[in-house]
Amino acid sequence: MRIDIITVLPELLESPFNHSIMKRAKAKGLLEVHLHNLRDHTPYKQGQVDDYQFGGGAGMVMMPEPLAILIELLQKERRYDEIIFMTPDGKLYDQKTSNTLSLKENVIIICGHYKGIDDRIRQHFVTMEISIGDYVLSGGELAAAVVVDSVGRLIPGVLNDETSALFDSFQDGMLAPPVYTRPADFRGWKVPEILISGDPKKVDAWRHEESLKRTAERRPGLLNDDVQE
Ligand code: ADE
Repeated sequence: MRIDIITVLPELLESPFNHSIMKRAKAKGLLEVHLHNLRDHTPYKQGQVDDYQFGGGAGMVMMPEPLAILIELLQKERRYDEIIFMTPDGKLYDQKTSNTLSLKENVIIICGHYKGIDDRIRQHFVTMEISIGDYVLSGGELAAAVVVDSVGRLIPGVLNDETSALFDSFQDGMLAPPVYTRPADFRGWKVPEILISGDPKKVDAWRHEESLKRTAERRPGLLNDDVQE
């Protein structure tokens, strides 16, 4: 999978994909992340990419031209499955969307700044608008990092058996069960007996039960298929 990220702050995204699972995904050739500095593609002087909004009001808006130039430059090279705009008024991101995106070949992610981007870009280029939660970040970069990380680990072949995404929270519509490691007795706090019983069937049943309990307590909406509770 190839992800092209359009940003005015590429420095902010240099580190997140160079560690741990994202680093492995890239090393295995399963994920490519390309950062594009929007200022390198503006026809305006001094790297200008934003301007005052028509109609007045506080806050700058990202101009359509630099974005259109860069998007079309990328589109000349390959066909994109999705052009995503990170924005707090987008569709709330969840594991289902992450799964869907992980099967795409080429994706562009646009990180917004200031008051957002000129709406004509949203109307004519953007195919998907994503919010990572009901709060406002200073820009779309950190939100894009969240999406790339969650998608990257789902690309077939990135995770091995040990880190399999099959057992992640949300993957089966439920929260993950509690986990424990050594020592079995820490300060007198003991690991549940079943987990050291050596009976995989009992362990599976216990995990399922704990998953259900946790989900019912913390996110009951998930059990009713209502993810956006
Ligand atoms: N940009 C600013 N806030 C955001 C959010 N909550 N989700 C996605 N992009 C954003």
